[in-house]
Amino acid sequence: HNVTLKALHKNLTPRIAPVDHPALKQSLWGRSFSNPVGLAAGFDKNAEAVAGLFNFGFGFVETGTVTIKPQEGNPRPRVFRDVKNSAIINRMGFPNKGVGVFKQNLSAFLQTKPRPQGVLGINIGMNKDQTNAADDYTQLVRLLAPLADYITINISSPNTPGLRDLQHPDHLAALLTSVMDERAATCGNHPVPILVKLAPDLVEDQLSNIAHVLLAQKIDGVILTNTTLHRPEILPVAFRSQKGGLSGAPLLDLSTAAIRRFYTLTDGKIPIIGAGGVDDAASAYAKIRAGASLVQLYSGLVFKGPYVVRDINLGLCDLLRDDGFTSLTQAIGADHHKPLQGAA
Ligand code: FNR
Repeated sequence: HNVTLKALHKNLTPRIAPVDHPALKQSLWGRSFSNPVGLAAGFDKNAEAVAGLFNFGFGFVETGTVTIKPQEGNPRPRVFRDVKNSAIINRMGFPNKGVGVFKQNLSAFLQTKPRPQGVLGINIGMNKDQTNAADDYTQLVRLLAPLADYITINISSPNTPGLRDLQHPDHLAALLTSVMDERAATCGNHPVPILVKLAPDLVEDQLSNIAHVLLAQKIDGVILTNTTLHRPEILPVAFRSQKGGLSGAPLLDLSTAAIRRFYTLTDGKIPIIGAGGVDDAASAYAKIRAGASLVQLYSGLVFKGPYVVRDINLGLCDLLRDDGFTSLTQAIGADHHKPLQGAA
């Protein structure tokens, strides 16, 4: 992974022509997305390879998770692959160089001329030893809002003790009130879009309560989902007994189900970025039809390499055309708008 990041940083990685098709373009949160395929958080935690990653053809790249202070993360080994099942388990624990280095790296990227096209997200989290979550998140919003096209509040990584408890509706409402106040103070009339990233392991009641909080807080978007603590039986025992979050193909249906449910709960009012097991056009399209406006991938890039971005976008053009759509936006949530069976 570090070799790949170095190669990206030094511009030694391929430059893959982005798919340029009118059906894939979309405007969301006042940002122009040239295609709906993004890189999920965790790959470029320190924002050191952003230009190289945009050259893979991503419509957007989400950097981070970044924390205020640098931290080591968990002891190695902390990432495990099951190639046969296209699955990864990680218990990284937010290793990163802290917000100072992150800002320097990102500022250098933003000064690149010409700056590669694409929407830039920043995913923020709290340090492992922090007891007051709002302190870290508000500080990060203050420091990073001027650099970001959107900011993701990550409260769903399973590898920072207590982090997922922030999804509890009372905690979430309090945290988001602080974050939104900070945004108003920092951004004035040009508020940076704030997204919340959720776990796939929430039961119906939890998701419903969270949806209410997010609607009340007028949150701009939601990312569904982070990695799962579930361990499908098909995975080999030695692999599935590792602690951490599972991603890749075995997460596909679980995360798509969360998208479907959330879209229904919110009447499609909160834009969704779908993540979890996306590694071809069909898996991306399933998430879009379930209600996602955009998709992200991480594991798919690990197993299939950078041409996966192009393959997904080309395949999406075909799938849209086959269904009679002239624009991706028509397909968002299409599964929910099917005519009732037997209706005239
Ligand atoms: C992740 N993911 C992640 N998410 C996040 O919000 N912050 C992070 O720092 C990380 N770190 C991270 C490291 C590794 C090694 C993996 C595999 C994943 C989760 C990631 O962004 C995504 O939500 C899930 O992996 C599901 O997508 P895929 O991998 O199935 O495409």
